[in-house]
Amino acid sequence: MKKIEEFLRSLTFNIRRDRELDLNRRGFVASTLSLMGLLFLSSTPLVVLSKRAETPDLETFIANVGDLAVGDSVTFSYPKEHDPAMLIRIAENEYRAYNIKCTHLMCPVYWEKEEGHLVCPCHHGFFNVEDGSVIAGPPPRGLPTIQLAFKDNGIYAVGITQSQH
Ligand code: FES
Repeated sequence: MKKIEEFLRSLTFNIRRDRELDLNRRGFVASTLSLMGLLFLSSTPLVVLSKRAETPDLETFIANVGDLAVGDSVTFSYPKEHDPAMLIRIAENEYRAYNIKCTHLMCPVYWEKEEGHLVCPCHHGFFNVEDGSVIAGPPPRGLPTIQLAFKDNGIYAVGITQSQH
């Protein structure tokens, strides 16, 4: 009678209890590896896109040399249409360009010619025109610097670097 009972139980539950834990462990490892692979693959395009946004290879015409008097500025967009930027002629042969979204809460920064610095009106953030670094106020870091190139008579934006200070 006991043998029949055991036989019926083995037919009903076709599972070997001693291997159940092994299968669970194997299943867990397989699903974890699958999940990690899926996460890696889904994040790869984002990494590539964000690197591209950091180092645009496009060249944008800003102005002609001589369009600005010393102390004057002009706004433009770089690297994309909705990225506000500003070119400032700080001396006869010196220009600076920055992304002008404040690094605190993204308010647009303006050039205060008389004082010789960039100002964020939202919470009184002040930036150094020489290198975009923070002089005072709540901004956590300086403005991203736009690299310039001079060709023929034109001034071009050719790259952007995040502030280190
Ligand atoms: S947004 Fe510029 S200082 Fe706050």
